[in-house]
Amino acid sequence: MRAVGFIVRRMAILKIARMGHPVLRRRADPVADPTAPRIQALVRNMIETMQDADGAGLAAPQVHVPLRVVIFHVPESRAGTGENDGPMPLTVLINPEIEPLGAETALGWEGCLSVPGLVGAVPRFTRIRYSGLTPSGTRIEREAADFHARVVQHECDHLDGMLYPQRMTDLSLLMFQEELRHGPPDAMRAAAEAAEIA
Ligand code: NI
Repeated sequence: MRAVGFIVRRMAILKIARMGHPVLRRRADPVADPTAPRIQALVRNMIETMQDADGAGLAAPQVHVPLRVVIFHVPESRAGTGENDGPMPLTVLINPEIEPLGAETALGWEGCLSVPGLVGAVPRFTRIRYSGLTPSGTRIEREAADFHARVVQHECDHLDGMLYPQRMTDLSLLMFQEELRHGPPDAMRAAAEAAEIA
């Protein structure tokens, strides 16, 4: 009888750190070797955790690992029609860097798996260039606009100990997501779509 080989990948849904946990306040460390088996395992578990939580993105500190690793995607529902804001498949970025392209910012709703139940209107650069390494060690460099740019900025902030409320300029726009059913605050009428959780 011939043995049939299976690659058994142990996967796990990881516990998510919540606002106030020290791992969310510190600067995360660079990854020395993106191809190391423990980084591959971390990425697999982060993907499973993000998908289980129905998030748009996740950063390693959110699963109690203080390393510079983020994952994200841009779902069809949040994509635009512009040059750099289309749908984006799941992307893993290791040791990412961000550079704003221009000074323009816009307010948009954000949620965060580490700040459950709340959403806030956060100013972000509308156009950025970002780069980083994949788990195979190859380099990604992209330009991003609008939601794509927003989710990358949100995730990379996690690597510097920053949560979205710290970026807010008007805390009257920090609210429970459930209360959005009453309609958006006047200041947010132009961006009334539901918040994306990252
Ligand atoms: Ni977050």
